[in-house]
Amino acid sequence: MNKKYKFDFELLNSFPEMCFIVSNEGAILDVNQPAVSKLKLNKKYLPKITFFDLIEESHHEKTLKFISNFFNSGKSDSIVSKLKAKNGALDVQFYFSQFSDRGDNSKYCFVLAKDITDEKKKDIDLLRFYRVAENTVNPLQITDITGKMIYVNKAFVHASGYTEGELLGKNPNVFSSGKHSKKFWNRMWNTINEGKVWVGEVENRRKSGDPFFTQILISPILDHDGKVTAFFGVHRDLTEKKLLEKQLVHTQKMESIGTLAAGVAHEVGNPLASISALVQVVQRSTNDEFVKEKLELVKNQVTRISKIIRDLVDFSRPSNYELQMTDINQNIQEAVEIIKVGAKAKSINFEMELNDSIPILPLVADQIQQVFVNILLNAVDIIIESPRGLEKDLIRVCSEVDEDQIIIEFYDNGRGIADENLAKVFEPFYTTKKEGKGTGLGLWVSYGIIKSFQGDLKVSSKLGEGTTFKITLPIHP
Ligand SMILES: Nc1ncnc2c1ncn2[C@@H]1O[C@H](COP(=O)(O)OP(=O)(O)OP(=O)(O)O)[C@@H](O)[C@H]1O
Ligand SMILES: [Mg+2]
Repeated sequence: MNKKYKFDFELLNSFPEMCFIVSNEGAILDVNQPAVSKLKLNKKYLPKITFFDLIEESHHEKTLKFISNFFNSGKSDSIVSKLKAKNGALDVQFYFSQFSDRGDNSKYCFVLAKDITDEKKKDIDLLRFYRVAENTVNPLQITDITGKMIYVNKAFVHASGYTEGELLGKNPNVFSSGKHSKKFWNRMWNTINEGKVWVGEVENRRKSGDPFFTQILISPILDHDGKVTAFFGVHRDLTEKKLLEKQLVHTQKMESIGTLAAGVAHEVGNPLASISALVQVVQRSTNDEFVKEKLELVKNQVTRISKIIRDLVDFSRPSNYELQMTDINQNIQEAVEIIKVGAKAKSINFEMELNDSIPILPLVADQIQQVFVNILLNAVDIIIESPRGLEKDLIRVCSEVDEDQIIIEFYDNGRGIADENLAKVFEPFYTTKKEGKGTGLGLWVSYGIIKSFQGDLKVSSKLGEGTTFKITLPIHP
């Protein structure tokens, strides 16, 4: 078939994209109306410029090389480039194709320039969004409508402890702590399925099993028709906040127990003193051996109660002893010596790593020593009770300086403390010792003493591995 179309270039004026006819030398032989208006071309000047003059400087070199290759090969091809326009430049995709005029056999080029400025902007926006998403500290997730994760950012991977591969395609409940009811999650699903935003505080569980608290904001992603196509979740890390809240509750609890204890000590202390005095009077004024013996038992019990009362007072009394300059390291050494004297401590290895540069602090040396002895005695008691493998019984005491505070740590390789009992050890009368062996006041009193010097006493432990009590004391209280 030999079809001979006579084709008028003007036909392309109603075509939306920019079109050009360019000669082998680059002369612009024809342009359609969209090109004239988009590039604000003055047709009068067209014969004076070449096609290359329309290309934006930054893309000159690349585009010229492309065009020269194209003319050499004659094969249709395309390239992304930029055209100069009155208000800045236009991003375009060029399509080049060659044809020859049958009359004189010379070669021409048909150029179509598709304006891709909007697409490019969308790409840039998308890239920008992606970079923000990847680098924000907030964990982000996108789930499809069936609830499977299709995107998680780096912060999410970091916070959850899972790899990206382990997360994608899974339901976010892989790190659910199981602490929230079915109703809680149903409410969440109902809200987001209705196209609304849901906000809630949740306790999650990392791969390691540790909890991490976040506030999640889940918003549905809607398409043009308002149909939900996916869900976008942003987490805000609340772990720190929760920890502070917990500490605050703990501190407040200790304070209120302290107030109560002070009251009880005061109320019980006075009658007890009179009982003690009366017992002695009666003991002296009788010759009845039976009565004397029983009164001796009463006296022992009174002494026991008095000791408890003294402990209660120790905790709640704002230190009214005089402060003296105290050498913490020397104080630790003395406490350890006291403990070593006890028969129970014979099998135990004591290690000490005391930092020489610890400054002398204004403290009440006796009280501080009472704390050290309490903690060390507990460690000895626990070690003695703990079944021992090949490991040696060990108590390690370290002291160090950290900026404006000193840190003293007591580690023992006893049986450790279960997570749920960690906070309880500071509570008064909490003891796991046999009746008559411990009152459960040692750590409580120690806590009170350290707090009265604006310091802090904390415990960390792993069941089966050991326990560390950490004391911090401010250098400039
Ligand atoms: N190093 C430790 N390892 C394991 N458990 C410990 C350790 N120190 C303390 N505990 C636990 O904390 C409890 C409370 O200790 P605390 O010193 O307050 O009281 P107690 O030693 O039982 O009695 P008290 O000190 O009044 O004679 C202990 O009974 C024990 O269960
Ligand atoms: Mg104790």
